[in-house]
Amino acid sequence: MFEYRIALKNAGRISPENIEDYIAAGGYNALIKALQMPPEKIVYELIQSGLRGRGGAGFSTGMKKKFTSEASCILLECMRYIVCNADEGEPGTFKDRIIMEQDPHLLIEGLIIAAYAVGAEKGYIYIRGEYHTSVDMIRKALANAAGHGFLGDNILGSNYSLDIAVKLGAGSYLCGEEFTLLESIEGKRGYPRIKPPYPAEKGLFGMPTLINNVETLCHIPDIILNGADWYKNIGTEKSPGTKIFSISGDVNNPGNFEVEMGLKLRKLIYNLAGGIKDGKKFKAALIGGAAGTFVPQTYLGISMDFESLQEKAFVMGSGAIIVMAEDRSIVDMLHSILRFLGHESCGKCVPCRVGTRQLLMLLEKILAGGPNKSSEIDALLEQSELMAKTSLCPLGQSPVLPIGSALQHFRKDFEHPVKKSGGSILLE
Ligand SMILES: Cc1cc2nc3c(=O)[nH]c(=O)nc-3n(C[C@H](O)[C@H](O)[C@H](O)COP(=O)(O)O)c2cc1C
Ligand code: SF4
Repeated sequence: MFEYRIALKNAGRISPENIEDYIAAGGYNALIKALQMPPEKIVYELIQSGLRGRGGAGFSTGMKKKFTSEASCILLECMRYIVCNADEGEPGTFKDRIIMEQDPHLLIEGLIIAAYAVGAEKGYIYIRGEYHTSVDMIRKALANAAGHGFLGDNILGSNYSLDIAVKLGAGSYLCGEEFTLLESIEGKRGYPRIKPPYPAEKGLFGMPTLINNVETLCHIPDIILNGADWYKNIGTEKSPGTKIFSISGDVNNPGNFEVEMGLKLRKLIYNLAGGIKDGKKFKAALIGGAAGTFVPQTYLGISMDFESLQEKAFVMGSGAIIVMAEDRSIVDMLHSILRFLGHESCGKCVPCRVGTRQLLMLLEKILAGGPNKSSEIDALLEQSELMAKTSLCPLGQSPVLPIGSALQHFRKDFEHPVKKSGGSILLE
């Protein structure tokens, strides 16, 4: 009921350590088909499917591949790279982990097809360092895939060769940002680069690079097998396909739920996640993690797709939904978020380095109470808006999202803040 599985189709149903199980479930048939197609046809099919990135930004997956495959190298020795972003650092998000632990070959198959489509000869899977089981599963699956001729030289007798390596993240949230991740793979400190040029033009070691999230890549095998038209019929017109939502917080049945794009938030929370714990009422859902937005009760009927959320100034982000019951404090939650962002700021640019700390100080003043509360609340918003305009990378541009939505829908909570017994459920 309500669930529609593409990226999670095998999770919990096959043995992740047994490649034969994956093959028996139809695995690697899409790769066999893809290798018989010209790479441009794969790119075309992905553009037609309307698949958009599931890592946060929601950019067209097919267009990214088109740009990467068409980019010309500036250096004489040209090589294309593919990178899978499995850093999964966004608070409240735990979907990529489940895919890697329970169905690693689906990710690997999607990655090989994507690499073939853009002509990449070398690939990396950048995995969050704390995900020990994911790392083990992916390493075993890569070895098994190579043993079966799905990876390495002349894959399945074709002229196409690909080598994939695993790289571990060291716990920096910012290293999930695509350029910072590339710096990290290159062995440098995790600082973001200035865009443009984008990774498709000048990415890893200065070469054209395709970066995709784990979940995004897992949609590719089924699109190749069933065609773009099949995929377009799932979800909504402008946000086709499915999305995994990681639901946590004050719900009876937390977990990952893959559903068609456009399912109502209410159905996700009450039908799939089992409703609010202890018979309490819903207060808010923080959608998209720390770089996300607070959705109040009046929007429980919102459709969970890119456009419907954007229309109301909410974001989909990575698909994290942290549910807060009636006795939770929005101010405490925001305090957690600002502490997190301040801690993760790399310090490269002043607006974010200083701004994240000032936001935290302002919020603490508001919490402490005082004569200038109203102007301090306004300053919180103004300062986050200024940071959004002047910060170098998306981390410094993001505090405006939780602050703006919290003040728009819960301003009263800031005017009369009460330290709630439940406290924050983020990062505590
Ligand atoms: C601070 C920050 C952290 C991010 N962390 C992740 C992450 O852990 N995983 C991820 O896939 N994308 C993350 N992103 C988004 C990536 O920069 C990039 O958009 C994504 O990997 C592209 O893949 P997609 O097109 O398949 O979504 C992060 C972005 C920012 C700004
Ligand atoms: S916005 Fe923040 S995280 Fe990004 S470069 Fe500036 S200081 Fe670093």
